[in-house]
Amino acid sequence: MTITTRPGPATPVSPAAPSPVRLPRAGELARGHARGAPLRREGPAKLTGTALYADDLVFPGAWYGATLRSTEPHARLLGIERDADFDWSRVVVVTAEDIPGDNVVSLIIDDQPILVPVGGEIRHQAEPVALLAAADRDTLREAKARLRLRTEPLAPVFDPLVSSQVFAHFDMGKGDIAAGFAAADLVVEGTYRVGHTEQLYIENQAMIAVPREDGGMTVTGSLQCPYYVHKALKRALALDSERAVVIQAETGGGFGGKEEYPSLLAVHAALLAQRIGRPVRMIYGRHEDIAATTKRHPAIVTHRTGVTREGRIVAQEIDLVLDGGAYCTLSPVVLSRATIHAGGPYDVANVRITSRAVATNTPPNGAFRGFGAPQAEFAAEMQVNRVAEALGISPLELRRRNIYREGGVTPTQQVLRESVAAQEVLERAAEAAEFERIRERTARERAARTASARTARGIGLALGWHGAGFTGSGEERMGSVASVELTAEGAIRILAASTEMGQGTKTIFPQLVADELGVPYDAVEIAPQDTSIVPDSGPTVASRTAMVVGGLIIKAARRLRAQVEERTGRPFAESYLHDAQTWGGTREDERFEPYPGVHFDDETYTGDAYPAFGWACAVAEVEVDLDTGEVAVRSVVSADDVGRVIHPVLAEGQVEGGTLQAVGYATIEEIKLHDGRYLNDRLQTYLIPTAVDAPRIDAILVEAPFSGAPHGAKGVGELPMDVGAPAVVAAIHDATGVWIHDLPASPERILAALDGHEPPGPPGISA
Ligand code: MTE
Ligand code: MOS
Repeated sequence: MTITTRPGPATPVSPAAPSPVRLPRAGELARGHARGAPLRREGPAKLTGTALYADDLVFPGAWYGATLRSTEPHARLLGIERDADFDWSRVVVVTAEDIPGDNVVSLIIDDQPILVPVGGEIRHQAEPVALLAAADRDTLREAKARLRLRTEPLAPVFDPLVSSQVFAHFDMGKGDIAAGFAAADLVVEGTYRVGHTEQLYIENQAMIAVPREDGGMTVTGSLQCPYYVHKALKRALALDSERAVVIQAETGGGFGGKEEYPSLLAVHAALLAQRIGRPVRMIYGRHEDIAATTKRHPAIVTHRTGVTREGRIVAQEIDLVLDGGAYCTLSPVVLSRATIHAGGPYDVANVRITSRAVATNTPPNGAFRGFGAPQAEFAAEMQVNRVAEALGISPLELRRRNIYREGGVTPTQQVLRESVAAQEVLERAAEAAEFERIRERTARERAARTASARTARGIGLALGWHGAGFTGSGEERMGSVASVELTAEGAIRILAASTEMGQGTKTIFPQLVADELGVPYDAVEIAPQDTSIVPDSGPTVASRTAMVVGGLIIKAARRLRAQVEERTGRPFAESYLHDAQTWGGTREDERFEPYPGVHFDDETYTGDAYPAFGWACAVAEVEVDLDTGEVAVRSVVSADDVGRVIHPVLAEGQVEGGTLQAVGYATIEEIKLHDGRYLNDRLQTYLIPTAVDAPRIDAILVEAPFSGAPHGAKGVGELPMDVGAPAVVAAIHDATGVWIHDLPASPERILAALDGHEPPGPPGISA
């Protein structure tokens, strides 16, 4: 084996320069130990290896489960045949007809079966057809090899542009698009494509189902959304709410990949466990995990932009197509977020955005950090940078002339009344990165470059916005609940279904409650994410935890405090132990109430699509190897407005992680397909950035609070993912003079563009 390394960055890698991190105020959020913030709650267990992930949990007598999958992209299932020479008595096989409830993975629409029934349609490669369990892995493996699918092939569709099955579509806009183009001095057109990418959480999908004595089922596993799994489990096994129990084990990252998929895996494990009356473990290996689980939606986005000579964008016509894969999953909501964000953070008078999410015979695509916005904003920022080039105006200056300011109106007719920080993040990132000065230098270098030059340096900038929390009336419909309890023993306990997946839920919740109650951080406990213990606080998605659920627990804590103080006549911190002894436990449940003045109309799809937006700007510096086409991203400065910083270290970590994920997305991450199957479905071949590829990342945290949330927070989890990739591709252009329209800007595409021919085919739509 040869190990290739590449030379490290020209400048020595130093830890990101500490930004001025003295952000927390009010009660100082329970203070702390690390750079002004408390230690991460689950940190010590993760560091010392004592944290229990699903695969670490021991259930005596458990069997192992496996999934028999399709090896065709589209076919009629005629039968499942067992090899007669095999001893089937040591194995249990479950097929669609053994499902006691509905054969449906319950999500938005009921199109996805738990297992393809005989007579039914296989719609993608690696689709689950049967389940097996055995006491040991060898028997399981052998049994799986002795099952054969009998099928009749059907014609597959792989190209989203020719697919006629539409999961969702939108047509939105404002102003008069024809008048807008008539007023333009220049029209720029462009088509941008991004392919499938993989979330690549460290821990693979994992679920363990254990039959309960009451005839129900307890499922423990790696997941983001306990109540999504709960709903799916109840329906598939025909159980009532109490007899279906879902518990989150320590979770090694999700990034959206554990938003909807765990429901299917939980149901699979539960069906086997129910059948044999024993615990069943289903822990995917990496190969199965990449081959079968959801990816980021590939997107094809076409822009037509009208602009005046002075650099005022007067018309935007955008068409966006998402490849949903074989089943609907969350595509309609991914599409709505992509559509609403498609114009970028610019106040343009005349806008028309059309979009659709369509079916293809590939594994279903789903949630991935950013939820449609990174695809849409990659295209938007590419387009704005190309418009700047066409006008001969600096990309920074062009943005200054067009960004949203307070009072701006979005394509859903939302008036941005407050918390608009587009200009602040733009100026702060540009200044910290010395954007204009370095851009002048790279321009001089480009002009002076000779044919023998081996490398080229460039700098690029991108601006983004990210709607905070669920889209439209989502939060209102869901009506999340979270609670704070003073137990009879005097413990302060938070009850919420929001999960920890590395992003900080278990740390920021106790901070918020301790701050509100005036008690130390360590005095506040957090109840396990177990549906038999905690209420439904909604899913841990859409970066909603800090803003929405954090807001609920602050309000619950406020009520608890008022109650105790009224009874004791003394400050909560001094009297709660005494109060608990006298009164016993007190629990305050807080249900989501719409934010004042925030309205969305589902019929016309107009109004406040989000209660507020977060704003981000990234400036990237790259060095392109002109022989190999390889890109080394040297540094990224990312300024992110998150409303309110609760934990500076975790918030910076979110910006760093999201930025690095965006760098991978921009430069190397690419799923290759053949016959609707992912070819590079292993870590050897699906490449992500490692420590040596990581640029220096400087996070600048900006606070433009949202008044509807008691603490002002808007979330940080996804925002940085929107801006990294277009900034990197702009920097590649600054270095080389070529535009790479399709992600990733891989060595193949860069070399082809440098040679002056069309880069190799669009990702995600090749058969
Ligand atoms: N950070 C870590 N470490 N691990 C994760 O799985 N998921 C991201 C983001 N940051 C993720 C993460 C995604 S997709 C979302 S939606 C948010 O975190 C969700 O968490 P939040 O609501 O607490 O922001
Ligand atoms: Mo995040 S993609 O909303 O789980």
